[in-house]
This record gives sequence, structure tokens and C-alpha cells, in this order.
Amino acid sequence: MRDLLIRDVLALTQAAVCPQAAIAVRDGEIAYIGPEADLPPAYAGLPVYEGRGRIAMPGLVNAHTHAAMTLLRGYADDLALHEWLTQMIFPAEARLTDEDVYFGTMLACAEMIRSGTTCFADMYFFMDATARAVAESGMRASLSVGMGSGAGDVDGGRAKLAGALDFCSRWNGQAGGRITTMLAPHAPYTCSTTFIEDVARAARASGLGIHTHVSETAREVTEIVTEYGKSPVEHFEALGVFDVPTLAAHCVAVSERDIDIMAAHGVRVAHNPGSNMKLASGVAPVVDMLAKGIAVGLGTDGAASNNNLDMIEEMRLATLLQKVSTGDPTAMPAAECLTMATMGGARCLGLEQLIGSLEVGKRADLILVDHSLPHMEPFLASRATSHMVYASSSSDVSSVIIDGSVVMDERRLTTIDETAILAEARRRAAVLVE
Ligand code: NI
Repeated sequence: MRDLLIRDVLALTQAAVCPQAAIAVRDGEIAYIGPEADLPPAYAGLPVYEGRGRIAMPGLVNAHTHAAMTLLRGYADDLALHEWLTQMIFPAEARLTDEDVYFGTMLACAEMIRSGTTCFADMYFFMDATARAVAESGMRASLSVGMGSGAGDVDGGRAKLAGALDFCSRWNGQAGGRITTMLAPHAPYTCSTTFIEDVARAARASGLGIHTHVSETAREVTEIVTEYGKSPVEHFEALGVFDVPTLAAHCVAVSERDIDIMAAHGVRVAHNPGSNMKLASGVAPVVDMLAKGIAVGLGTDGAASNNNLDMIEEMRLATLLQKVSTGDPTAMPAAECLTMATMGGARCLGLEQLIGSLEVGKRADLILVDHSLPHMEPFLASRATSHMVYASSSSDVSSVIIDGSVVMDERRLTTIDETAILAEARRRAAVLVE
């Protein structure tokens, strides 16, 4: 059933807060949104989904994660990025199988749906397993095979790139159009210049975007400057990465000049405040990036460095972090933060024509949030945005609709056998890190 009529709901649209709204969905597309009193009669007969006591808002877009890393949640805490990655994560990941990735991603999808996320950008290994989980869970995702390749690994790098291009050609547009794809050179410090150039050339030739990590820490910047005489942003620009739509995760240690380069090339940034704080990587200058017109989305990063995929928590972390780091309590107001977590993410994934806001003609990716709870009172329509960012919890998300399909109905997942997935993920995680 991808036709429905949500009645008597408080809708958060790009333009306004609309109390007593109706949202008509036909064939997975928003056909009407506005005052219920003005609902065109043509939509009055659609199956009704009760919205009373709920906020309807665009589904949250997780602009950067590694979904299957849920299996490594809590495995390596309280370490700096370099030690965390090289001593703990890389060795555990070397033991991963495609079935581990499938169950880890299904676990992530259950967690994301429960916390109001409808779409995510993922970079990892065994991405066929990830794509299978996305298709089954009903979620929307931009998927990319994470690739690293050192200077002495020219043939290996070519094989990895060929594999990633094959993945893109097989999965782009699948799952009813809910899956899109990108190419993902992991980071400037895990990829040789030759390899990055090859990836950028392939992306140009095949019309694909690039998803990567850039300037996550000051240490990374020092290493890249020492090796190449350029900052990671300058390095990627010189190698042609930014000639295609690029989604750059982190951008913590970026200079004014770096920000100007990113703005000039339309680079999109995935901001990951929870992961950046936990690894003590620093604070991304998000206010400065937004001021220069850069599209910034919000991401959780993987569950091994966050340690959850809760985008509502991430919104609160994002705005509080900007305020405390700039010393300016007016930095990143609630509405700007909510836009970053929805439309900003859609722009990061190149899906802004399709999702990110509740508008006629867009796909029906939306969530209903219970506002009849003590921590949401006093509830006034004018405070809905503030409450979503500063007061709500992910457990307030009551229903989730993706592409017009109800994937969570009053806290019950409809596409995922949660009991089975949780048990299998726990069993596999234990084997992985033993
Ligand atoms: Ni990451």
C-alpha cells in the first residue's frame, strides 16, 4: 500500500508549520500537503493513517555512516582515531564476511528506522550484502564500496575500482529507485595519488559522485602536507576529485582557503559531531561552511565511533557543539539544524529533487513523531521545531514511511524480523572480536 492519507497532523514543511494538516500520498509520492480543510476531494478516499498528536516531518538523512559497523559497537572505545583505526578496527574488519555485513546492516536499518532515519549514505565492504539489506528493509540509501590502495598496489587498486564500478552498474536505481551509488576512495591517507586520479577519472566517465573522508584530524592534515605539500582539500582538488559531485565526510581540520575551495567546487560536507567528539578529532567549522553556501548534512559515522545511529541525538550534539565552540549561543538555531539533518543530507546525496522536505511531487519519505509526551509539553505549533531539536528523543518517533510504504507502524517494524536480526547480529559480533 503506497497510497495513504495522513489526517489531522502537524506538518513541518520547508516554508511553515502547518497545524491540522493533511498529507496525501499516491503511489509513494506526496500529492497534497496543506490544511486538511482544503484537501481536494480526489484524495478524500485514500486509506486513512491517523496523525493526531503527531508531528509529520521529512525523514532524517544520515549523510555518512558505515552501517555494518553496528557489529563493532562498544568494541573499541576511548581511543584516538589513528590507534582506534589501525590497532582495533582494521584487524576486526579483516575478519568480516559478507553475511556479517548483511546482518550488521539489517541491525543498523532497524536502529535507523526506529530513530526516524529514512535514508543514509554508506561506505563499506561487501556492499552487495548492504544493498540486499537496504532493499529488504525498505530504506533508501546511497551506497559505495570503500576503497583503499597504496602506492605499491597499482594492480590491486585497478581491481578494486573495477569491482566498485561493477557494483554501481548493478545496483544504481535498484529497489524501486531507492538505491543510488557513488565511488568511495576511503581517505587521502589510505589512497595513493595514482589511485585517487583513477577513481576521479572513472567517476567523471561514468557520471558517478564521490564519497570520501577529508581532513578528519589535524594529524591527517600534517601527514598529507608533509607528503604532498598540500592540505587534503588542496590535494583532492589537484587530483580532480572535486570535478564530480563530492560528499566529503568530517572536514574538521580545514582552513579558510580549504573552505573556499570546497565552496567553489560545490563539495558537500557530512558533519559527524558525535564521532568527532568521541575520537577528540575536533570541531568542524560548520557555521563558516554554511555561511559560504556549502551544503552540509549530518551523519552519525559508524556505530563503532559514535556509538549509535540516532540522528535526533546527533542534531542536538551538532547545534550544542557549534554554540559552545564559537562561544555564540545564536549559532546554528534549531530550524537550521533540522534543515541540515533533512534537506542538507538530501543535497549531500544529490537527492534534493526527490527527498529532504515535505513538498508536493517529492517521494513520501516522512516520519511521525509523538508530541503528547511530558518532555514535549507545553506543546505549541510554534515550538515544534525547537522541541524536535532540543527536547525530543528518538523513541518519540512513532511511525516511519519510506517511498509511501509504512516501514514502522506505531513502533512496530513491518519489514524487519527484529528478534531474529538482533540474535544473529549478537552471535556474529561475538565471533568477530573473540
Ligand atoms: Ni566514516
